[in-house]
Amino acid sequence: MDNFQEQLKNRRTFAIISHPDAGKTTLTEQLLLHGGVIREAGTVKGRGAKKLASSDWMAIEQQRGISVTSSVLQFDYDGKRINILDTPGHEDFSEDTYRTLMAVDSVVMVVDAAKGIEPQTKKLFEIVSQRGIPVFTFFNKIDRDARSPLDLVDELETVLGIQAYPMNWPIGSGQILQGIYDLQKDELISFKNASNHPEVVAEGEDEVELVKDAGNEFDEDAIAHGKLTPVFFGSALANFGVTEFLREYLKYAPAPVPVATVDGSLVEPSDSQFTGFVFKIQANMDPRHRDRIAFLRIVSGEFDRGMDVTLQRTGKKMRLSNVTQFMAEERENVQTAVPGDIIGIYDTGNFQIGDTIYSGKKSVEFPDLPTFTPEYFNKVIAKDVMKQKSYHKGIAQLVQEGTIQLYQSWSGTEYIIGAVGQLQFEVFKFRMENEYNVEIAFEPIGSKVARWINPDQLDEKMASSRNLLVRDRYDQPVFLFENKFALNWFKDKYPDIDLEEKM
Ligand code: G4P
Repeated sequence: MDNFQEQLKNRRTFAIISHPDAGKTTLTEQLLLHGGVIREAGTVKGRGAKKLASSDWMAIEQQRGISVTSSVLQFDYDGKRINILDTPGHEDFSEDTYRTLMAVDSVVMVVDAAKGIEPQTKKLFEIVSQRGIPVFTFFNKIDRDARSPLDLVDELETVLGIQAYPMNWPIGSGQILQGIYDLQKDELISFKNASNHPEVVAEGEDEVELVKDAGNEFDEDAIAHGKLTPVFFGSALANFGVTEFLREYLKYAPAPVPVATVDGSLVEPSDSQFTGFVFKIQANMDPRHRDRIAFLRIVSGEFDRGMDVTLQRTGKKMRLSNVTQFMAEERENVQTAVPGDIIGIYDTGNFQIGDTIYSGKKSVEFPDLPTFTPEYFNKVIAKDVMKQKSYHKGIAQLVQEGTIQLYQSWSGTEYIIGAVGQLQFEVFKFRMENEYNVEIAFEPIGSKVARWINPDQLDEKMASSRNLLVRDRYDQPVFLFENKFALNWFKDKYPDIDLEEKM
Protein backbone atom coordinates (compact mmCIF):
# COMPACT_ATOMS: atom_id res chain seq x y z
CA MET A 1 0.00 0.00 0.00
CA ASP A 2 2.86 2.33 0.83
CA ASN A 3 4.13 1.68 -2.57
CA PHE A 4 0.73 2.65 -3.95
CA GLN A 5 0.75 5.98 -2.10
CA GLU A 6 4.27 6.61 -3.28
CA GLN A 7 3.38 5.88 -6.90
CA LEU A 8 0.37 8.12 -6.64
CA LYS A 9 2.37 11.03 -5.36
CA ASN A 10 4.77 10.72 -8.26
CA ARG A 11 2.28 10.68 -11.10
CA ARG A 12 2.04 13.67 -13.42
CA THR A 13 -0.59 13.51 -16.15
CA PHE A 14 -0.76 16.30 -18.69
CA ALA A 15 -1.52 17.25 -22.27
CA ILE A 16 0.28 19.66 -24.55
CA ILE A 17 -1.91 22.24 -26.23
CA SER A 18 -0.66 24.32 -29.12
CA HIS A 19 -1.36 25.64 -32.56
CA PRO A 20 -0.04 23.47 -35.43
CA ASP A 21 3.70 23.92 -35.98
CA ALA A 22 4.42 25.57 -32.64
CA GLY A 23 6.63 22.60 -31.75
CA LYS A 24 4.49 20.19 -29.77
CA THR A 25 5.95 17.10 -31.43
CA THR A 26 9.48 18.38 -31.07
CA LEU A 27 9.02 19.16 -27.40
CA THR A 28 7.38 15.79 -26.81
CA GLU A 29 10.38 14.14 -28.40
CA GLN A 30 12.76 16.03 -26.17
CA LEU A 31 10.78 14.98 -23.13
CA LEU A 32 10.90 11.36 -24.27
CA LEU A 33 14.64 11.71 -24.78
CA HIS A 34 14.90 12.96 -21.22
CA GLY A 35 12.94 9.94 -20.10
CA GLY A 36 15.16 7.60 -22.08
CA VAL A 37 12.20 6.28 -24.03
CA ILE A 38 13.73 7.17 -27.36
CA ARG A 39 17.36 7.62 -28.20
CA GLU A 40 17.26 10.17 -30.97
CA ALA A 41 15.00 12.95 -32.13
CA GLY A 42 12.82 12.39 -35.16
CA THR A 43 11.57 9.00 -34.03
CA VAL A 44 8.13 9.87 -32.77
CA LYS A 45 5.90 8.29 -35.31
CA GLY A 46 2.58 9.67 -36.32
CA ARG A 47 4.56 12.66 -37.37
CA GLY A 48 4.59 11.51 -40.95
CA ALA A 49 0.97 10.50 -40.62
CA LYS A 50 -0.06 13.96 -39.66
CA LYS A 51 1.22 15.24 -42.96
CA LEU A 52 -1.14 13.02 -44.93
CA ALA A 53 -4.27 14.54 -46.33
CA SER A 54 -7.03 14.09 -43.84
CA SER A 55 -9.19 12.52 -46.53
CA ASP A 56 -6.90 9.57 -46.39
CA TRP A 57 -8.17 8.59 -43.02
CA MET A 58 -7.86 4.92 -43.63
CA ALA A 59 -4.19 5.24 -44.43
CA ILE A 60 -3.77 7.26 -41.30
CA GLU A 61 -5.63 4.65 -39.39
CA GLN A 62 -3.44 1.88 -40.68
CA GLN A 63 -0.44 3.72 -39.44
CA ARG A 64 -2.36 4.52 -36.41
CA GLY A 65 -1.37 1.48 -34.52
CA ILE A 66 1.35 4.08 -34.08
CA SER A 67 -0.37 7.34 -33.78
CA VAL A 68 -2.82 5.81 -31.35
CA THR A 69 0.01 4.27 -29.43
CA SER A 70 1.46 7.69 -29.14
CA SER A 71 -1.84 9.07 -27.92
CA VAL A 72 -0.65 8.26 -24.41
CA LEU A 73 3.06 8.31 -23.70
CA GLN A 74 4.55 7.32 -20.40
CA PHE A 75 8.05 7.88 -19.14
CA ASP A 76 10.02 8.26 -15.94
CA TYR A 77 12.14 11.22 -15.03
CA ASP A 78 13.69 12.24 -11.77
CA GLY A 79 11.63 9.81 -9.73
CA LYS A 80 8.36 10.86 -11.32
CA ARG A 81 6.20 8.92 -13.73
CA ILE A 82 4.83 11.15 -16.45
CA ASN A 83 1.85 10.51 -18.68
CA ILE A 84 1.50 12.74 -21.73
CA LEU A 85 -1.86 12.58 -23.45
CA ASP A 86 -1.85 13.57 -27.08
CA THR A 87 -4.24 16.26 -28.24
CA PRO A 88 -4.24 16.34 -32.02
CA GLY A 89 -4.40 19.88 -33.21
CA HIS A 90 -4.11 19.42 -36.94
CA GLU A 91 -6.44 17.80 -39.41
CA ASP A 92 -7.10 15.36 -36.59
CA PHE A 93 -8.78 18.01 -34.52
CA SER A 94 -11.95 16.58 -33.04
CA GLU A 95 -14.00 16.35 -29.90
CA ASP A 96 -11.48 13.76 -28.70
CA THR A 97 -9.02 16.59 -28.48
CA TYR A 98 -11.30 18.48 -26.14
CA ARG A 99 -12.29 15.43 -24.11
CA THR A 100 -8.70 14.47 -23.54
CA LEU A 101 -8.37 17.75 -21.69
CA MET A 102 -10.94 16.40 -19.20
CA ALA A 103 -8.57 13.58 -18.28
CA VAL A 104 -5.42 15.49 -17.38
CA ASP A 105 -4.29 17.20 -14.20
CA SER A 106 -2.35 19.96 -15.87
CA VAL A 107 -1.56 21.36 -19.30
CA VAL A 108 1.56 22.53 -21.07
CA MET A 109 0.89 25.25 -23.60
CA VAL A 110 3.49 25.50 -26.34
CA VAL A 111 3.56 28.83 -28.16
CA ASP A 112 5.76 29.85 -31.08
CA ALA A 113 7.70 32.83 -29.74
CA ALA A 114 7.70 34.46 -33.17
CA LYS A 115 3.95 34.22 -33.52
CA GLY A 116 2.42 34.49 -30.08
CA ILE A 117 -1.02 33.11 -29.23
CA GLU A 118 -2.66 31.55 -32.30
CA PRO A 119 -6.30 30.53 -32.75
CA GLN A 120 -6.05 26.81 -31.95
CA THR A 121 -4.15 27.55 -28.77
CA LYS A 122 -6.78 30.01 -27.72
CA LYS A 123 -9.59 27.55 -28.37
CA LEU A 124 -7.92 24.79 -26.39
CA PHE A 125 -6.95 27.16 -23.62
CA GLU A 126 -10.57 28.20 -23.21
CA ILE A 127 -11.61 24.59 -22.61
CA VAL A 128 -8.83 24.13 -20.10
CA SER A 129 -9.51 27.35 -18.28
CA GLN A 130 -13.09 26.23 -17.58
CA ARG A 131 -11.60 23.37 -15.60
CA GLY A 132 -9.34 25.64 -13.59
CA ILE A 133 -6.33 23.34 -13.82
CA PRO A 134 -2.69 24.47 -13.92
CA VAL A 135 -1.30 25.69 -17.22
CA PHE A 136 2.45 25.88 -17.86
CA THR A 137 3.56 28.01 -20.80
CA PHE A 138 6.57 27.21 -22.98
CA PHE A 139 7.52 29.89 -25.52
CA ASN A 140 9.33 27.88 -28.13
CA LYS A 141 11.76 28.58 -30.97
CA ILE A 142 13.81 31.32 -29.33
CA ASP A 143 16.71 30.08 -31.46
CA ARG A 144 14.89 31.98 -34.20
CA ASP A 145 14.01 35.65 -34.19
CA ALA A 146 11.27 35.98 -31.62
CA ARG A 147 8.92 38.72 -30.57
CA SER A 148 9.75 40.76 -27.51
CA PRO A 149 9.28 38.59 -24.41
CA LEU A 150 7.50 41.45 -22.68
CA ASP A 151 4.97 41.49 -25.51
CA LEU A 152 4.55 37.73 -25.40
CA VAL A 153 3.91 37.66 -21.69
CA ASP A 154 1.55 40.58 -22.01
CA GLU A 155 -0.39 38.67 -24.64
CA LEU A 156 -1.04 35.83 -22.22
CA GLU A 157 -2.76 38.29 -19.98
CA THR A 158 -4.63 40.28 -22.60
CA VAL A 159 -5.55 37.57 -25.10
CA LEU A 160 -6.05 34.62 -22.75
CA GLY A 161 -6.80 36.42 -19.54
CA ILE A 162 -4.32 34.44 -17.45
CA GLN A 163 -1.70 36.07 -15.26
CA ALA A 164 1.87 35.14 -16.06
CA TYR A 165 4.90 34.43 -13.93
CA PRO A 166 8.18 34.18 -15.87
CA MET A 167 10.37 31.40 -14.52
CA ASN A 168 13.09 32.33 -16.95
CA TRP A 169 13.72 35.05 -19.48
CA PRO A 170 15.29 34.94 -22.92
CA ILE A 171 18.33 37.10 -23.48
CA GLY A 172 18.16 37.85 -27.18
CA SER A 173 16.79 35.46 -29.75
CA GLY A 174 17.73 34.00 -33.13
CA GLN A 175 21.28 34.84 -34.23
CA ILE A 176 21.93 36.88 -31.13
CA LEU A 177 20.43 34.50 -28.59
CA GLN A 178 22.70 34.69 -25.55
CA GLY A 179 20.82 32.37 -23.28
CA ILE A 180 18.02 32.29 -20.77
CA TYR A 181 18.12 33.96 -17.43
CA ASP A 182 16.89 31.67 -14.66
CA LEU A 183 14.86 33.86 -12.33
CA GLN A 184 14.73 31.19 -9.66
CA LYS A 185 18.46 30.68 -9.43
CA ASP A 186 19.38 34.16 -10.57
CA GLU A 187 21.82 33.00 -13.19
CA LEU A 188 22.28 33.12 -16.92
CA ILE A 189 22.25 29.81 -18.72
CA SER A 190 24.27 30.45 -21.86
CA PHE A 191 23.18 29.21 -25.23
CA LYS A 192 25.79 26.93 -26.68
CA ASN A 193 27.99 28.64 -29.25
CA ALA A 194 26.34 31.99 -28.62
CA SER A 195 28.10 34.84 -30.38
CA ASN A 196 29.10 37.52 -27.95
CA HIS A 197 26.71 40.49 -27.71
CA PRO A 198 27.24 42.33 -24.43
CA GLU A 199 24.66 44.99 -25.37
CA VAL A 200 22.01 42.29 -25.71
CA VAL A 201 22.94 40.90 -22.30
CA ALA A 202 22.70 44.38 -20.77
CA GLU A 203 19.30 44.97 -22.30
CA GLY A 204 18.12 41.54 -21.17
CA GLU A 205 19.29 42.18 -17.64
CA ASP A 206 17.31 45.41 -17.57
CA GLU A 207 14.23 43.50 -18.60
CA VAL A 208 14.86 40.88 -15.95
CA GLU A 209 15.01 43.64 -13.32
CA LEU A 210 11.78 45.07 -14.65
CA VAL A 211 10.09 41.70 -14.54
CA LYS A 212 11.30 41.11 -11.00
CA ASP A 213 10.05 44.49 -9.81
CA ALA A 214 6.82 44.87 -11.68
CA GLY A 215 5.80 41.29 -12.35
CA ASN A 216 3.23 39.15 -10.56
CA GLU A 217 3.94 37.51 -7.22
CA PHE A 218 4.71 33.83 -7.32
CA ASP A 219 1.59 32.20 -5.94
CA GLU A 220 1.33 28.41 -5.87
CA ASP A 221 -2.35 28.47 -5.12
CA ALA A 222 -3.03 30.66 -8.17
CA ILE A 223 -0.97 28.25 -10.27
CA ALA A 224 -2.92 25.27 -8.94
CA HIS A 225 -6.19 26.92 -9.98
CA GLY A 226 -5.02 27.98 -13.41
CA LYS A 227 -5.07 31.69 -12.55
CA LEU A 228 -1.33 32.14 -12.93
CA THR A 229 0.83 30.42 -15.52
CA PRO A 230 4.53 29.78 -14.97
CA VAL A 231 6.26 30.91 -18.16
CA PHE A 232 9.34 29.36 -19.72
CA PHE A 233 11.34 30.21 -22.81
CA GLY A 234 13.41 27.81 -24.83
CA SER A 235 14.04 25.92 -27.99
CA ALA A 236 12.68 22.43 -28.26
CA LEU A 237 14.68 21.83 -31.43
CA ALA A 238 17.96 22.89 -29.88
CA ASN A 239 17.05 21.17 -26.61
CA PHE A 240 17.65 24.45 -24.86
CA GLY A 241 15.66 25.27 -21.73
CA VAL A 242 13.83 21.95 -21.88
CA THR A 243 15.56 20.36 -18.89
CA GLU A 244 14.92 23.47 -16.80
CA PHE A 245 11.33 23.47 -17.92
CA LEU A 246 10.83 19.80 -17.05
CA ARG A 247 12.45 20.22 -13.65
CA GLU A 248 10.23 23.13 -12.64
CA TYR A 249 7.16 21.61 -14.21
CA LEU A 250 7.59 18.48 -12.10
CA LYS A 251 8.01 20.61 -9.02
CA TYR A 252 4.77 22.55 -9.41
CA ALA A 253 2.46 20.33 -11.45
CA PRO A 254 -0.04 18.47 -9.31
CA ALA A 255 -0.22 14.77 -8.64
CA PRO A 256 -3.69 13.30 -9.38
CA VAL A 257 -6.42 15.27 -7.66
CA PRO A 258 -9.81 14.18 -6.21
CA VAL A 259 -12.75 14.07 -8.62
CA ALA A 260 -16.34 15.00 -7.73
CA THR A 261 -19.16 12.52 -8.37
CA VAL A 262 -22.67 13.40 -9.51
CA ASP A 263 -23.89 13.40 -5.90
CA GLY A 264 -21.24 15.93 -4.99
CA SER A 265 -18.94 13.71 -2.94
CA LEU A 266 -15.25 13.59 -3.71
CA VAL A 267 -13.39 10.48 -4.77
CA GLU A 268 -9.85 10.69 -3.41
CA PRO A 269 -7.11 9.12 -5.53
CA SER A 270 -5.89 7.30 -2.44
CA ASP A 271 -9.26 5.58 -1.87
CA SER A 272 -8.90 1.83 -2.07
CA GLN A 273 -11.93 1.45 -4.33
CA PHE A 274 -10.90 1.42 -7.98
CA THR A 275 -12.77 4.00 -10.09
CA GLY A 276 -12.29 5.67 -13.43
CA PHE A 277 -14.05 7.26 -16.38
CA VAL A 278 -13.93 6.74 -20.12
CA PHE A 279 -12.91 9.89 -22.00
CA LYS A 280 -12.22 8.53 -25.45
CA ILE A 281 -13.13 5.57 -27.59
CA GLN A 282 -10.95 4.66 -30.49
CA ALA A 283 -12.13 2.20 -33.08
CA ASN A 284 -10.30 0.00 -35.55
CA MET A 285 -6.93 0.18 -33.97
CA ASP A 286 -5.96 -2.83 -35.91
CA PRO A 287 -7.56 -3.06 -39.34
CA ARG A 288 -7.79 -6.84 -38.97
CA HIS A 289 -9.91 -6.61 -35.87
CA ARG A 290 -13.17 -4.97 -35.12
CA ASP A 291 -12.33 -4.12 -31.56
CA ARG A 292 -12.20 -0.70 -30.18
CA ILE A 293 -10.41 0.67 -27.19
CA ALA A 294 -12.00 2.62 -24.41
CA PHE A 295 -9.50 4.98 -22.81
CA LEU A 296 -10.03 5.09 -19.08
CA ARG A 297 -8.57 7.66 -16.74
CA ILE A 298 -8.05 6.05 -13.34
CA VAL A 299 -9.41 8.28 -10.60
CA SER A 300 -8.87 6.16 -7.48
CA GLY A 301 -7.54 2.82 -6.30
CA GLU A 302 -5.14 0.45 -7.92
CA PHE A 303 -5.78 -1.38 -11.14
CA ASP A 304 -4.86 -5.06 -11.20
CA ARG A 305 -5.11 -7.13 -14.31
CA GLY A 306 -8.13 -9.40 -14.17
CA MET A 307 -9.98 -7.39 -11.55
CA ASP A 308 -13.77 -7.33 -11.54
CA VAL A 309 -15.57 -4.05 -12.06
CA THR A 310 -19.06 -2.72 -12.69
CA LEU A 311 -20.02 -0.42 -15.52
CA GLN A 312 -22.17 2.09 -13.67
CA ARG A 313 -24.51 3.08 -16.51
CA THR A 314 -25.70 -0.45 -17.26
CA GLY A 315 -24.84 -2.24 -14.03
CA LYS A 316 -22.97 -4.76 -16.14
CA LYS A 317 -20.16 -6.62 -14.37
CA MET A 318 -16.98 -7.27 -16.25
CA ARG A 319 -13.47 -8.52 -15.76
CA LEU A 320 -10.66 -6.23 -16.80
CA SER A 321 -8.26 -8.67 -18.36
CA ASN A 322 -7.83 -7.40 -21.87
CA VAL A 323 -6.27 -4.10 -21.03
CA THR A 324 -3.41 -2.18 -22.52
CA GLN A 325 -1.23 0.69 -21.53
CA PHE A 326 0.58 2.91 -23.94
CA MET A 327 4.29 3.30 -24.26
CA ALA A 328 6.17 5.19 -26.92
CA GLU A 329 7.03 2.39 -29.25
CA GLU A 330 4.86 -0.50 -28.32
CA ARG A 331 1.70 -1.27 -26.53
CA GLU A 332 2.38 -3.13 -23.38
CA ASN A 333 0.15 -5.39 -21.47
CA VAL A 334 -0.38 -3.63 -18.22
CA GLN A 335 -0.40 -5.43 -14.89
CA THR A 336 -1.02 -2.62 -12.47
CA ALA A 337 -1.75 1.06 -12.78
CA VAL A 338 -2.64 3.85 -10.39
CA PRO A 339 -4.66 7.10 -10.45
CA GLY A 340 -3.43 9.46 -13.12
CA ASP A 341 -2.65 6.56 -15.43
CA ILE A 342 -4.61 5.82 -18.56
CA ILE A 343 -5.50 2.27 -19.44
CA GLY A 344 -7.03 1.10 -22.70
CA ILE A 345 -9.78 -1.48 -22.35
CA TYR A 346 -10.56 -3.63 -25.37
CA ASP A 347 -14.24 -3.14 -25.91
CA THR A 348 -16.83 -4.92 -27.98
CA GLY A 349 -19.40 -2.18 -27.67
CA ASN A 350 -20.14 -1.85 -23.95
CA PHE A 351 -18.68 1.56 -23.35
CA GLN A 352 -19.72 5.12 -24.04
CA ILE A 353 -17.83 8.32 -23.59
CA GLY A 354 -18.22 9.50 -20.01
CA ASP A 355 -18.90 6.05 -18.52
CA THR A 356 -17.81 5.34 -14.97
CA ILE A 357 -16.48 1.99 -13.84
CA TYR A 358 -15.78 0.93 -10.28
CA SER A 359 -14.71 -2.07 -8.26
CA GLY A 360 -16.55 -3.36 -5.21
CA LYS A 361 -20.13 -2.75 -4.23
CA LYS A 362 -20.43 0.97 -3.73
CA SER A 363 -21.81 2.57 -6.88
CA VAL A 364 -19.90 5.60 -8.11
CA GLU A 365 -20.89 7.91 -10.93
CA PHE A 366 -18.75 10.68 -12.35
CA PRO A 367 -20.53 13.48 -14.22
CA ASP A 368 -20.95 13.27 -17.98
CA LEU A 369 -18.20 14.85 -19.98
CA PRO A 370 -19.29 18.20 -21.38
CA THR A 371 -20.67 18.47 -24.89
CA PHE A 372 -18.80 20.84 -27.13
CA THR A 373 -20.43 23.20 -29.55
CA PRO A 374 -19.86 21.85 -33.06
CA GLU A 375 -18.85 24.24 -35.81
CA TYR A 376 -19.25 22.12 -38.94
CA PHE A 377 -22.45 20.51 -40.12
CA ASN A 378 -23.48 18.05 -42.80
CA LYS A 379 -26.74 16.47 -43.81
CA VAL A 380 -26.39 12.69 -44.00
CA ILE A 381 -28.05 10.57 -46.65
CA ALA A 382 -28.04 6.79 -46.95
CA LYS A 383 -27.15 5.92 -50.53
CA ASP A 384 -29.06 2.66 -50.44
CA VAL A 385 -32.61 2.99 -49.13
CA MET A 386 -32.74 -0.76 -48.51
CA LYS A 387 -30.28 -0.43 -45.70
CA GLN A 388 -32.32 1.81 -43.44
CA LYS A 389 -32.00 -0.49 -40.45
CA SER A 390 -28.22 -0.66 -40.42
CA TYR A 391 -28.15 3.02 -41.24
CA HIS A 392 -30.12 3.98 -38.14
CA LYS A 393 -28.28 1.49 -35.97
CA GLY A 394 -24.88 2.75 -37.12
CA ILE A 395 -25.80 6.37 -36.54
CA ALA A 396 -27.22 5.61 -33.09
CA GLN A 397 -24.13 3.71 -31.99
CA LEU A 398 -21.56 6.09 -33.36
CA VAL A 399 -23.36 9.02 -31.80
CA GLN A 400 -23.40 7.21 -28.45
CA GLU A 401 -19.70 6.61 -28.76
CA GLY A 402 -19.16 10.30 -29.22
CA THR A 403 -17.82 10.05 -32.76
CA ILE A 404 -20.11 12.80 -33.94
CA GLN A 405 -23.03 14.91 -32.69
CA LEU A 406 -26.46 14.25 -34.10
CA TYR A 407 -29.32 16.63 -34.86
CA GLN A 408 -32.59 16.25 -36.67
CA SER A 409 -34.54 18.84 -38.54
CA TRP A 410 -37.32 20.06 -36.27
CA SER A 411 -40.21 18.88 -38.38
CA GLY A 412 -38.73 16.26 -40.64
CA THR A 413 -36.52 13.29 -40.07
CA GLU A 414 -33.44 14.54 -41.82
CA TYR A 415 -30.23 13.77 -40.01
CA ILE A 416 -27.74 16.55 -39.55
CA ILE A 417 -24.43 15.79 -37.94
CA GLY A 418 -22.12 18.25 -36.30
CA ALA A 419 -18.45 18.17 -35.40
CA VAL A 420 -15.75 20.42 -34.03
CA GLY A 421 -13.28 19.24 -36.70
CA GLN A 422 -13.72 18.03 -40.29
CA LEU A 423 -11.95 14.75 -39.70
CA GLN A 424 -14.80 13.58 -37.50
CA PHE A 425 -17.01 13.37 -40.62
CA GLU A 426 -14.52 11.20 -42.41
CA VAL A 427 -14.15 8.92 -39.44
CA PHE A 428 -17.91 8.67 -39.28
CA LYS A 429 -18.28 7.86 -42.98
CA PHE A 430 -15.48 5.34 -42.89
CA ARG A 431 -16.94 3.55 -39.91
CA MET A 432 -20.48 3.55 -41.29
CA GLU A 433 -19.16 1.85 -44.40
CA ASN A 434 -16.79 -0.55 -42.72
CA GLU A 435 -18.64 -1.49 -39.59
CA TYR A 436 -22.28 -1.13 -40.63
CA ASN A 437 -21.89 -1.71 -44.32
CA VAL A 438 -23.84 1.40 -45.22
CA GLU A 439 -22.70 3.85 -47.84
CA ILE A 440 -23.55 7.38 -46.96
CA ALA A 441 -23.28 10.73 -48.64
CA PHE A 442 -22.93 14.15 -47.11
CA GLU A 443 -24.63 17.28 -48.16
CA PRO A 444 -22.56 20.04 -46.61
CA ILE A 445 -24.51 22.81 -44.99
CA GLY A 446 -21.37 24.67 -44.08
CA SER A 447 -20.21 26.03 -40.81
CA LYS A 448 -22.86 27.22 -38.40
CA VAL A 449 -23.06 28.83 -35.02
CA ALA A 450 -25.09 26.52 -32.78
CA ARG A 451 -27.08 27.91 -29.88
CA TRP A 452 -29.48 26.05 -27.61
CA ILE A 453 -32.74 27.83 -26.94
CA ASN A 454 -34.87 27.48 -23.85
CA PRO A 455 -37.74 25.20 -25.04
CA ASP A 456 -40.34 27.27 -23.16
CA GLN A 457 -39.42 30.30 -25.21
CA LEU A 458 -39.42 28.55 -28.54
CA ASP A 459 -41.67 29.74 -31.31
CA GLU A 460 -41.13 27.90 -34.57
CA LYS A 461 -41.71 31.11 -36.45
CA MET A 462 -38.38 32.35 -35.17
CA ALA A 463 -36.67 29.92 -37.51
CA SER A 464 -35.59 31.01 -40.97
CA SER A 465 -33.14 30.01 -43.65
CA ARG A 466 -30.49 31.96 -41.74
CA ASN A 467 -31.21 30.13 -38.51
CA LEU A 468 -32.17 26.53 -39.01
CA LEU A 469 -34.20 24.98 -36.21
CA VAL A 470 -33.10 21.47 -35.29
CA ARG A 471 -33.36 19.14 -32.29
CA ASP A 472 -30.36 17.56 -30.61
CA ARG A 473 -30.31 13.92 -29.59
CA TYR A 474 -32.01 14.74 -26.31
CA ASP A 475 -34.81 16.44 -28.27
CA GLN A 476 -33.72 19.88 -27.18
CA PRO A 477 -34.22 22.73 -29.68
CA VAL A 478 -31.12 24.26 -31.24
CA PHE A 479 -30.74 27.07 -33.74
CA LEU A 480 -27.99 26.71 -36.30
CA PHE A 481 -27.16 30.26 -37.31
CA GLU A 482 -25.58 30.94 -40.64
CA ASN A 483 -22.88 33.02 -39.00
CA LYS A 484 -22.22 35.43 -36.14
CA PHE A 485 -24.07 38.20 -37.94
CA ALA A 486 -27.19 36.11 -38.15
CA LEU A 487 -26.84 35.34 -34.46
CA ASN A 488 -26.49 39.00 -33.55
CA TRP A 489 -29.39 39.93 -35.76
CA PHE A 490 -31.49 37.35 -33.93
CA LYS A 491 -30.41 38.65 -30.55
CA ASP A 492 -31.40 42.18 -31.56
CA LYS A 493 -34.76 41.01 -32.77
CA TYR A 494 -35.50 38.78 -29.77
CA PRO A 495 -33.64 40.35 -26.87
CA ASP A 496 -35.53 38.33 -24.26
CA ILE A 497 -34.72 34.91 -25.66
CA ASP A 498 -32.07 32.92 -23.79
CA LEU A 499 -29.53 31.33 -26.08
CA GLU A 500 -26.97 28.99 -24.65
CA GLU A 501 -23.64 27.93 -26.03
CA LYS A 502 -22.22 24.63 -24.83
CA MET A 503 -18.62 24.51 -23.75
P1 G4P B 1 3.72 20.65 -33.96
O1 G4P B 1 3.84 19.25 -33.46
O2 G4P B 1 3.34 21.62 -32.91
O3 G4P B 1 2.92 20.80 -35.20
O4 G4P B 1 5.17 21.14 -34.39
P2 G4P B 1 6.48 20.32 -34.70
O5 G4P B 1 7.12 19.87 -33.44
O6 G4P B 1 6.22 19.33 -35.76
O7 G4P B 1 7.37 21.50 -35.26
C1 G4P B 1 7.02 22.24 -36.41
C2 G4P B 1 8.25 22.76 -37.11
O8 G4P B 1 8.95 23.65 -36.23
C3 G4P B 1 9.25 21.66 -37.45
O9 G4P B 1 9.93 22.06 -38.61
C4 G4P B 1 10.21 21.71 -36.29
O10 G4P B 1 11.48 21.19 -36.61
C5 G4P B 1 10.27 23.18 -36.00
N1 G4P B 1 10.63 23.48 -34.61
C6 G4P B 1 10.11 22.95 -33.48
N2 G4P B 1 10.68 23.47 -32.40
C7 G4P B 1 11.59 24.35 -32.85
C8 G4P B 1 12.54 25.21 -32.21
O11 G4P B 1 12.66 25.25 -30.99
N3 G4P B 1 13.31 25.98 -33.03
C9 G4P B 1 13.20 25.95 -34.39
N4 G4P B 1 14.01 26.75 -35.08
N5 G4P B 1 12.33 25.15 -35.01
C10 G4P B 1 11.55 24.35 -34.26
P3 G4P B 1 9.55 21.49 -40.03
O12 G4P B 1 10.61 21.96 -40.94
O13 G4P B 1 8.15 21.83 -40.36
O14 G4P B 1 9.54 19.99 -39.71
P4 G4P B 1 10.47 18.84 -40.18
O15 G4P B 1 9.71 18.25 -41.32
O16 G4P B 1 11.76 19.46 -40.53
O17 G4P B 1 10.55 17.95 -39.00
